Amino acid sequence: MSWKQTPKVELHLHLEGAAPPSFIRGLASEKGMDLSAIFKEDGGYAYRDFDHFLSVYEAACSVLTGPEEFQRLTQAVLEELADHGVVYAETFVSPDFCGGGDLEAWKDYLAAMQEAHVDGITLKGVITCIRHFGPEKAKAAAVCAAETYGDFVRGFGIAGAELMGKPSDFMWSFDCAREAGLHLTAHAGEWGDAASVRDCWETLGIERIGHGVRAAEDPKLVEDLAEAGVTLECCPGSNVFLGVYPTLSKHPIQKLREAGVMVTVSTDDPPFFDTTMTKEYEDLERTFGWGEEDFAEINATALSAAFCDDETRAEVAKRLEKK
Ligand code: ADE
Ligand code: ZN
Repeated sequence: MSWKQTPKVELHLHLEGAAPPSFIRGLASEKGMDLSAIFKEDGGYAYRDFDHFLSVYEAACSVLTGPEEFQRLTQAVLEELADHGVVYAETFVSPDFCGGGDLEAWKDYLAAMQEAHVDGITLKGVITCIRHFGPEKAKAAAVCAAETYGDFVRGFGIAGAELMGKPSDFMWSFDCAREAGLHLTAHAGEWGDAASVRDCWETLGIERIGHGVRAAEDPKLVEDLAEAGVTLECCPGSNVFLGVYPTLSKHPIQKLREAGVMVTVSTDDPPFFDTTMTKEYEDLERTFGWGEEDFAEINATALSAAFCDDETRAEVAKRLEKK
């Protein structure tokens, strides 16, 4: 069956990483910037591996030079999400790419993003620092998040190169965000192993884990995550595309779910990984035999772990009931 119309919740989506290549190419040509090196002949993004992905990602961000560009980007992303049945999404956005961590500039970018609107879908923001940009930049990102916590800004997290630095380097930022009332998540267990997941979880006191799938390598950690009810923001297509697992059948999402871990499904950076939420569902159906009840459970899990307020949660729950 086609899963395109099925209402969906997506918790792990990088706003800049969701930029369609045609959108970035269009902006580059408006600004007279030559970004041809980051595109393949067929128009998609061109990169060799994860490190190269991060630099192509940053090059693509270089055309997003002001609030207006972020408004247009958010609008384009919302339209694409709605086309795939997404009724609620949380998007990671980095102050580093929105005014370089300056609070006043950040507020202008944020206001512009919130101008974007598509009926039937709610978007919330999770402000992310970038691990390979280092702890000082992370502090500025945390201050931006803490000072703008509210209806749109709901959470704080960390993305980027997981193998650089240690979670403890970012404790100040996570404490700052927690004290301001923000929910917390962190990328871990994508490139790092189960020990990296435990370190991030225990050191930063996060409620959800971005990816987290390499936890499957440590049975005790799997048991502890299940018992604590920690939600994993799994992005199976991203993991297979980037080579964390050779095929979807080797991805541990099913095993983790069977062990009682709260798993959810997201796309991460859809045009970079040639995916959409519809494609993720189709692939999970084909590989693990997931059907309507499984996806309903996955969406219920995602909604209960969403960083929104309870009024929004109740509204989204109604959208999920509609087929
Ligand atoms: N930033 C965007 N996508 C990412 C990923 N898959 N891992 C870490 N940082 C990211
Ligand atoms: Zn991610």
